[in-house]
Order: sequence, then structure tokens, then C-alpha cells
Amino acid sequence: MATYLVTGAAGFIGSHLVEELVRRGDQVRALDNFSTGRPENLQSVAGRIEMLEADVRELDRIRPYFSGVDYVVHLAALSSVARSIEDPASTNAVNIGGTVNVLLAARDARVRRAVFAASAAVYGDHPALPRVESQPARPLSPYALTKVTGEHYCRLFTELFGLETVALRFFNIFGPRQAPDSPYTGVLSKFIVAYLRGETPVIFGDGEQSRDFTYVHNVVEAVRLAAGAPGAAGGVFNVGTGESYTLNRVIGALNEIFQRQVEPRYAPPRDGDVRDSRADISLAGRVLGYAPTVRFEEGLRRTVEWYRAAFGNGAGRRS
Ligand code: NAD
Ligand code: UD1
Repeated sequence: MATYLVTGAAGFIGSHLVEELVRRGDQVRALDNFSTGRPENLQSVAGRIEMLEADVRELDRIRPYFSGVDYVVHLAALSSVARSIEDPASTNAVNIGGTVNVLLAARDARVRRAVFAASAAVYGDHPALPRVESQPARPLSPYALTKVTGEHYCRLFTELFGLETVALRFFNIFGPRQAPDSPYTGVLSKFIVAYLRGETPVIFGDGEQSRDFTYVHNVVEAVRLAAGAPGAAGGVFNVGTGESYTLNRVIGALNEIFQRQVEPRYAPPRDGDVRDSRADISLAGRVLGYAPTVRFEEGLRRTVEWYRAAFGNGAGRRS
């Protein structure tokens, strides 16, 4: 049994990770400022975790929580590319300033390892597919730049201070609880909500852009493996599935699940948008022992089921 401190624990990925750690009998300190995450996301484990409402931008406030922790998983961030273009300063402050604070607190508490949520966004429009970790980063948005910077800070903390760190480049993660009511949420969440409300999904661009859509269960496994894998410290690893789908194909898959013939509306492409993205996951396979177990279609089916049930319980209210 180990003690984990999870930042961004009340968010989409964080809440799934916390549930799994609790299920396995680990101790969890969940840290979040509830800016995009919600206390309800941790309802199923309430009473079995320590919940700390705090902002990673405040080093003095978060520092005491790291004492006695074995592993830190740093997920807290503003995770939207579009938001980072509208407001680069706040994304910069949370994603870079917050990451430095978390690494400092982890270093000073002598934790065993810190796992950082990096992003496939760092590859930008590099022409080669699939994405391999050795390709140069070419961020197309302030968000992507903050994630490259976070990776470098992790490496520096390993080299300068001996803090073990692992950076995981998550590809497009989806699943239950991905914010159903935020304009900055992931595309699958937006599409599923549009289907449930009988609205027309909007595609930015021609719909032929592609993503390695990765079900959240796979990411939770990758994070757990990254915390423990010998030989992973100081490393950067892709976490995806190795397959990709265009948005037009996603609409086709949703039409099949919903048994409808929805035609999306096409709008101009988004600034800072990456065209294609697909992970080479062989390094994570070799070093972490990572292998995705839930494929896209199965993940999409489970996700739609969750949104249907959540909407029945009022989660589909417009905010
Ligand atoms: P999310 O928005 O659901 O979760 C982020 C959490 O961090 C939220 O609970 C939010 O309240 C919290 N947070 C934000 N600012 C904070 C602050 N200043 N102090 C404390 N807590 C703060 O997003 P997510 O999709 O679960 O993403 C988790 C992490 O994974 C992020 O770092 C994101 O950049 C990264 N990531 C996500 C994806 C994806 O497709 N979802 C892909 C690549 C990387
Ligand atoms: C997503 C994640 C980001 C992560 C990155 C890794 C979110 C909000 N963003 O960014 O945290 O680091 O993957 O690869 O989870 N689109 C539409 N219609 C919509 C919404 C989006 O066509 O209503 C398009 C976008 O223009 C883009 C694609 O769908 O081409 C994916 O967009 P989005 O889900 O926002 O994710 P990314 O920008 O890839």
C-alpha cells in the first residue's frame, strides 16, 4: 500500500485514477481547486480519501500536503488548447507555475516519484506519423508550450535535484465524466451531448483531422505503471492506443450507436489545431509494460451509456 497525492483529482482523468487507487487499497490525498473539476466526480470515494481544496499556484499552501507521500501524480492544469489561445496568461500560470510548485514540494518532501501529465499536443504539426517520442516538439498553442516546458522541468528536477519524474504524453482521452457542460471540453463529450440534446454537432474544419482517441481506463493503467516501473525515471512516454479516427468517422460511429443519421455542421478550423495525431506506444510498452485494453468502439459505447444516465440525472443542464 502506498500513499499517492493526486493533483487535479476532481477532474475527468483524476477522478478515475483516484477510484482505481482506492479500489487497490492505496491511500489517496486528492488536491483540486475545483476550477474545471467537480466534487461530485469523487462521490464514490468520499470518506475514503483526504480531499484538499487548494490551488497549485500557491506553493506555501500546498507544501504541507506532500509530507509522507510516496507518489505524486500531477494532473492539475487548464487542459484546453482553445482556452489557452483566448487567455495564454492563465494557462501559463497554472500549467507552468503550478508544475514548478508541485515539483518543488515533491522534491522537498522526498517523494519516491512524480508522474506528470504531458500531452500529445507537444508534437504539433510534425509531419511524421505515428508520433515517436524522439521527434522534436513543435507546439502550436500556448497549451502545448506549457506541456513541453513541464516536461523539461521534470527532466531538470531529475538531473539537478535527483527527484524521479516520468512524463506521460496523453493522447486524446475520453470517457465518463469528461466535463459535459464546458465549452472547453473534449470533442467526444461535445458530440455526445449534442446527440443527446438533439442538436447538430459542429466540426471545425473538414472533419478529416484525426486523433488517437484513448479510453480513460487505459490512461489510469499507464499512470500506475509509470509510478512503479523501474528504469522509467527521467523518461517521456506516449500514452495512446496506436490507432486513430477522423472526426467524420467518429460521427459515423455515433450514428450507429444512436441509430440516427446526423449530419454535422462544418465551421472554420480552429487556430492552433493539430491536423493528425496517432501514438507509437512501443516505448511505453517496453519500459512501462503499458498496453491499452479498451479499444475505441468499446470505450465510446461505455461513454455514451454514462452520458445517457447522467443526463437522466440532470447533468445535462446548461450552465
Ligand atoms: P480536467 O479539466 O477534467 O482536470 C483538471 C483538473 O485540474 C480539474 O479538476 C481542475 O479543477 C484542476 N485544476 C485546474 N487548475 C488548478 C489549480 N490551479 N490548482 C488545483 N487544481 C487545478 O482535465 P483532464 O482531461 O482530466 O486532464 C488532466 C490532465 O491531463 C491535464 O494536465 C491535461 O492537460 C492532461 N491531458 C489531458 C488530455 C485529455 O485528452 N483529456 C490529453 C493530454 C493531456
Ligand atoms: C486534446 C485535449 C488536450 C490534450 C490533447 C492531446 C481536451 C479539451 N483537450 O486536445 O488536453 O492535451 O488532446 O492530444 O481534452 N473539434 C470539433 N468540434 C468541437 C470540438 C472540437 O470539430 O465541438 C475538433 C477540434 O478542432 C480538433 C479535434 O476536434 O480538431 C479535437 O479537439 P479537442 O477535443 O478540443 O482536443 P485537442 O485540441 O486535440
